[in-house]
Amino acid sequence: MKGRIQLEESKILVTGGLGFIGSNFILNLFDKFPGCSITNVDAEFTGSNKQNLAQIKSKKGYRYVKGNISDTTKIKKLVQTCDVVFNFAAESHVDRSIDEPKPFFDSNIMGTYSILEAIRKFDKKLIHISTDEVFGSLKSGSATEKDVFNPSSPYAASKASAELLVNSYFVTYGIDSIITRCTNNYGPRQFPEKLIPKVILLASQNNKIPIYGTGKNIRDWIYVLDHCDAILKACQYGKNGNSYNIAGHNEIDNITIIKSILKIMGKPTDMIKYVKDRPGHDFRYSLKTTKIEKEIGWKPKYTFEEGLRTTVRWYINNRLWWQNIAKKNMGRTK
Ligand SMILES: NC(=O)c1ccc[n+]([C@@H]2O[C@H](COP(=O)([O-])OP(=O)(O)OC[C@H]3O[C@@H](n4cnc5c(N)ncnc54)[C@H](O)[C@@H]3O)[C@@H](O)[C@H]2O)c1
Repeated sequence: MKGRIQLEESKILVTGGLGFIGSNFILNLFDKFPGCSITNVDAEFTGSNKQNLAQIKSKKGYRYVKGNISDTTKIKKLVQTCDVVFNFAAESHVDRSIDEPKPFFDSNIMGTYSILEAIRKFDKKLIHISTDEVFGSLKSGSATEKDVFNPSSPYAASKASAELLVNSYFVTYGIDSIITRCTNNYGPRQFPEKLIPKVILLASQNNKIPIYGTGKNIRDWIYVLDHCDAILKACQYGKNGNSYNIAGHNEIDNITIIKSILKIMGKPTDMIKYVKDRPGHDFRYSLKTTKIEKEIGWKPKYTFEEGLRTTVRWYINNRLWWQNIAKKNMGRTK
């Protein structure tokens, strides 16, 4: 299958759909295209949470399969019966990749290879989800789709490697593929190891909030539903073999993010505790998004302020969702 895809009538395979972005993507997909059918394959690694999709567990058109994307036999069977694959599955936390890189290479590189083999065998469409971290730290300016990769962490290197594999399969075998590359996401259902949920959860329990180094590291933040929308548009209107940068255009340093959350929650700033910086901590990421805006007509809709308020409210209203995970994964940093 080459070119345009009618999502409302499609059989869609989502990998990593129990995670943060994948689960928001599936819920958003059913909202927009109620007639589609979705199979979600997830290995139930760190970041996954079955509660994320409990509301559609028995929905007609939804099927969940526990499985690892590196399992080539299982992936071939799943890809054979779908029209398009959205590959979200990945080990996704930079700190964990510094502690133990191998699982990142297994899932993010070998897992992508396994999907690519199935895509080329059965001639299906692949939308591969990547990250701004492939370009490494930028002092100034913003990376375009044509910039060279310069990843710093094992996580970023594994994502850059996966992109190179996707491109090589497009050039060599002519597969139908698009890469989307996004900045930092935030929103409901994000695992509490990541900055924004971690700060909300620590603050709601009146615990100290650790911040790396000076807190001046800058990320661009995008509300998760804006990212999901951009991925859908890239699938529908993007050009085969192309990559598209996606950003929220909210470049903010970590200390400002933490102070904004504390302000929304009515908590004092003396809860913040500065800790030793992590090795290889990139100073700033930034993406230029002229291509997706001009070619596809996508722009983010959420302001950072409304997205952050919605996110804080979601975590406060969904204590049951995070209570058990938080105990196991965040420790107490009082
Ligand atoms: N979170 C961000 O800010 C961000 C930004 C840009 C790009 N991305 C990319 O988006 C994707 C999703 O990120 P996320 O934040 O939702 O991550 P997440 O950690 O919340 O979810 C990842 C999911 O993938 C699953 N998974 C991991 N390895 C697997 C494997 N081998 N087989 C099957 N399932 C596997 C996990 O079980 C988990 O459910 C990743 O590819 C990530 O690199 C994330």
